[in-house]
Formats: sequence, C-alpha cells, structure tokens
Amino acid sequence: MNKINLTNDFGLSRIVHGQMRMNNWKMTTRELSVFMEEVVGLGVTSFDHADIYGNYSCEAMLGEVLGMNKSLRNRIEIITKCGIKLVSEKFPERKIKHYDYSCEHIVTSVNNSLKNLRTDHIDLLLLHRPAPFFDPEAAAEAFSVLKREGKVLYFGVSNFTPGQYEMLNTFTGEKLVTNQVEISPYCLEHFENGNMDFFLKEKIKPMAWSPLAAGKLLNPYDEKGPRVMRALIQVSKELHVTPVDKVIYAWLLKHPVSMMPVVGSGRIERINHAVDALKIDMSLEQWYRIYIAALGKELP
Ligand SMILES: NC(=O)c1ccc[n+]([C@@H]2O[C@H](COP(=O)([O-])OP(=O)(O)OC[C@H]3O[C@@H](n4cnc5c(N)ncnc54)[C@H](OP(=O)(O)O)[C@@H]3O)[C@@H](O)[C@H]2O)c1
Repeated sequence: MNKINLTNDFGLSRIVHGQMRMNNWKMTTRELSVFMEEVVGLGVTSFDHADIYGNYSCEAMLGEVLGMNKSLRNRIEIITKCGIKLVSEKFPERKIKHYDYSCEHIVTSVNNSLKNLRTDHIDLLLLHRPAPFFDPEAAAEAFSVLKREGKVLYFGVSNFTPGQYEMLNTFTGEKLVTNQVEISPYCLEHFENGNMDFFLKEKIKPMAWSPLAAGKLLNPYDEKGPRVMRALIQVSKELHVTPVDKVIYAWLLKHPVSMMPVVGSGRIERINHAVDALKIDMSLEQWYRIYIAALGKELP
C-alpha cells in the first residue's frame, strides 16, 4: 500500500488503523499481537491512539504488544494525542472534563504515553481538540522540547478549523503536518466549514476519523441513515461491490484531498474492506449521489 507523504521524509499508510475501541475487543496481548501482524500484513502500518482512549488504558495495551513482539515497533508508525483531561478514577483530583495545552501538561502527557507504549518515540503527536483557553506559545514550547529530546518526530492537530490551524502554525518551529477530522457520508461538516478548501490550498492530507460514522451508517437509527444507506446500496449494486462499507471507503478515497480513513474496526475482514476499496473506481456521479443523499437536498 502506498504511503501518503505528510513531509518529504514522513508518511502514513493510506489506511490508518484506529485503536480507540481496543479495550472492547477483549483480546489477550498475544491475540492483539497476531491481529496487529495481520493488519500490518495488509499494508496498514499506521496506528492511531490517544492518551485518553479506553479511560487511559489503550496505549498500555499496545505497549504490552510492543513489549512482547519486539520487531513490530520499527515496522509501524504510532500516532497519539494529548490535551483532553477526563474525569477518571485514575485522576481523583479532577472535578470536570477540560482541556490543558500548557507546556507542562503536553510534555507530561507525552512522557506518560511513551511509558505506556513502551517506546522511545511517538511518530506523530496530535493536539486532540481546539480549546477556548489556548496559549500557542506554550504549545510551541512543548513541541520544541519534545522534538529536541527526540520524543516526538512530527506534530499535528485534530478537529481544528483552518483559522485555528494557521494560528498555531505561526507559533511553532515544528510545522503541523496534518489535521485529523471527522469525515464520512454521515458527517459532511468539513466540506462545509472551509476545512476541505484549506487542506487543498495548503496541500494538507487530512486523516478521516469515524469513516463509518462509528458504525451508525451500517446500523442506521435516524432519518438520515437509511437515506444515505439507500444511495450506498444502489452504488454498491452498480459497482458489483459488497459489502457496502467498501463503497463508503471508496467514497472517501476518491476525493482529491487524499484523506486517510482511520478505520476503527477490531475485525480483520472489515479492515480489509477498507484496503480493498483502494481498487474501486467510483464515478463522479456516484460520488455525488452519496453526497446529495447525505446532504438531504439537491445541489443549487
Ligand atoms: N480525533 C478524534 O477526535 C477522534 C474521535 C473519534 C475517533 N477517532 C479515531 O478514529 C478511529 C475510528 O473511529 P471509529 O471507531 O468511530 O470508526 P468507524 O470505523 O467509523 O467505526 C468503527 C465501529 O463501527 C463498527 N463497524 C464496522 N463495520 C461494521 C459493520 N459492517 N456493521 C456494524 N458495525 C460495524 C465497528 O465494530 P467492529 O469492531 O465489530 O467491526 C466499530 O465499533 C478511532 O479508533 C480513533 O483512532 C478520533
């Protein structure tokens, strides 16, 4: 599988595996190691985490795999995030969920992630969400400390608007390399808020989280879901492609912005559907049929 280059010397696999739900998969460390080898065998070498996933447990589960399967670390890229402080029994002093992008918190969070992941570096660190209380000089200072110490190779953001991205980028010596945002035929937000135009203009390759809308597209429960599903099924029949999730990935992959879907399934056959979708050639009209079904009205 081709890598998507985010800089001259750093790229991610076109399909990224998201491990937010890892603690739901109920796999032993050995089973997780076998599963990760299967995922890597598909060409999916980039793995997405956050400090908070699984109530601060998922990074350590990957760390146990890396402790057991020593050759794996050099064959994969690890993405993790920081900045959200959850209320958790692990942090009894916290009274309310909030965000912290102080230099001290970013550096401490990365040090914890490194310990949990049992690795000496994170390939890509993302600031998890934009914050109403944000000091870009503090974040930039954290980036330069972490880069200098070799603890983080590249930096990016998640869920940022173009304005927030540009603002932070003017403060950092280490330029941001990507923005991870929600994109699916269920969530068109970033087609509408200027982010897609910004990505194209700046040649930023975004990561698309919840590409199946967290499973909602396949188990629709509201009025929009079945409407989008009808369009997806129609296109899947025309393309002779089953199951329908392949059509969802093909829709994401067709867009010229070169997005990287972050696939959240714990089942190898479903991850393979995303990889298979790289071979699907969807027409422009089919792409629009799915877009218009999600929009719920004709284009002007
Ligand atoms: N940056 C952010 O703010 C942010 C937010 C959310 C997520 N993320 C990242 O994005 C990744 C993906 O998010 P996601 O897990 O919500 O993505 P997703 O791929 O849209 O959804 C995965 C969920 O859908 C289920 N699913 C897959 N195929 C299905 C099918 N055919 N029928 C029914 N259910 C199906 C999966 O269950 P099975 O495991 O049983 O297949 C899993 O529970 C996360 O792991 C995380 O890394 C980032």
